[in-house]
Parts: sequence; structure tokens; C-alpha cells
Amino acid sequence: MNIIFLGPPGSGKGTQAKIVSERLGFPQISTGDMLRAAVREQTPMGLKAKSMMDAGQLVSDAVVIGIVRERLSRSDCQKGFILDGFPRTLPQAHALRSALSEMNRQIDAVISLEVDEESVVRRIAGRRTCRDCGKMYHVEYDPPAVVDLCDVCGGDLFLRDDDKEETVRRRLQVYSEQTAPLVDYYTKAGLVCTVDGMQDISEVSDQILKVLGGN
Ligand code: AP5
Ligand code: MG
Repeated sequence: MNIIFLGPPGSGKGTQAKIVSERLGFPQISTGDMLRAAVREQTPMGLKAKSMMDAGQLVSDAVVIGIVRERLSRSDCQKGFILDGFPRTLPQAHALRSALSEMNRQIDAVISLEVDEESVVRRIAGRRTCRDCGKMYHVEYDPPAVVDLCDVCGGDLFLRDDDKEETVRRRLQVYSEQTAPLVDYYTKAGLVCTVDGMQDISEVSDQILKVLGGN
């Protein structure tokens, strides 16, 4: 099954994509995580992407489409995949459609997570991510057992560089201008399942698994 998670910053795409990936056994493909890894490794692409990410702007379509095409061609995507944070613009959606059609494949479902703006600003301000395994926490809504240490692997938890309130508001604006039109695009294709992202994390996962038929 080939799934897209759509939703504004902080709507829970990463949290839910990880849970659903573990439940259904399809890899989570997060363009944000891949770009952050490139920044950490200081690759030429990472060095270029960093200033755009820190400003809350999108990285160029060409760069992101290139990394997703390469990722989708790997063998672990053959039975299915979960895209988290891609596509984010209409050109990205068109490029995805042609890449998949070259492989005789298509998107099966688009999960659209709905949340209100003030809640996402609060969620992002409290988000902490494990440096080693990528597990996400929230200092208030989903805290680790020991402050700043991952429950799963004991790694350090960190705050993302683009999570300052001013940058988060910019990311929300970029979302409504460039990404929200994709909800219409995929609705017209009959693929969108809308999920209320304001519920507890486990309630959101239950609802997603139900609409995907995995529960
Ligand atoms: P990306 O990493 O994709 O960030 P984003 O879309 O801004 O979304 P976030 O990762 O901030 O939020 P999320 O929806 O994953 O929420 P999460 O699960 O973490 O992109 C970052 C940047 O990379 C972009 O700005 C851009 O520059 C670049 N980029 C990436 N993809 C690109 C593309 N395709 N094209 C161009 N540029 C691209 O949850 C947030 C917090 O809330 C966590 O602490 C979590 O524990 C908590 N939480 C989650 N669910 C709940 C709940 N139900 N109740 C309470 N708390 C919850
Ligand atoms: Mg994310």
C-alpha cells in the first residue's frame, strides 16, 4: 500500500507515520528527516538546504524530487511506503505521479491530518526528537520517562533548528500557500481520508489504521 501523510507542521505526520510504518511494515519516507541527515553530514545538498530550512522555506522541488525518486527505487519500498512531508507542492505531486507510473504503481491513500494553528505552535515548541533513533516526544503531551533521554535507545533528545516560534509561523504560512492546495488535488482523485489530528496520539493512530483497513 502506497500512502501519503499530508498536514501542516506539527500536525503529527512524523509521529503517526512512524506508528503506522511499524504496524503495517512499510518504510516511512520523511523528506524532512532525509534533509536533516544531509545537513548533519554537511553534504553539498545539505549545505544548500540548511538556509532554506532554517528560514522556514521549502527546499527546491528538483532536489527533493531527486531524493524521493532514488528512495522509492529501493527494494524495501516494493510492497508499499509511507510518505511523510512529500509531496508539498503541485510540481512535486506531478513528479511523484510520473515516477510511480513508470513503476506501474500509484498512490492508494492520502491521510490528511487536521489541526488548529495555535495547537501546532504549542506542539512544536514542546517537541523533542531522539538524535539516534528519531523517536519523537513532547515535553507535556508525550514525555520520555527520563528528561531529555530516549525511552527506546537512551539517545539524547534535541530541539530542531527550525522550531523557533517565528519560523514555525512562517512554515505554517508556506504550508497554506504551497501545500494545502494538494488536499484539493488528491480529493479530486478520490484519495483523501481526513483524520482529526486534535485527538490523543493513540486515537489518531487508531483512526488512521481503521481507514487504511489495518485494524
Ligand atoms: P518537515 O520535517 O517535514 O517538517 P514539517 O512539515 O514542518 O512538520 P513537522 O515535522 O514539524 O511536524 P509533524 O507533522 O511531523 O509533527 P510531529 O509528528 O513531529 O520539514 C522541515 C523542513 O524541511 C521544511 O520546512 C522544508 O524546509 C524542508 N522540506 C521537507 N520536505 C520538503 C519537501 N517535500 N519539499 C521542500 N522542502 C521540504 O508532532 C509534533 C509534536 O507534537 C511532537 O512533539 C509530538 O510528540 C506531538 N504530537 C503529535 N501528535 C500529537 C497529538 N495527537 N496530541 C498531542 N501531541 C502530539
Ligand atoms: Mg515531521
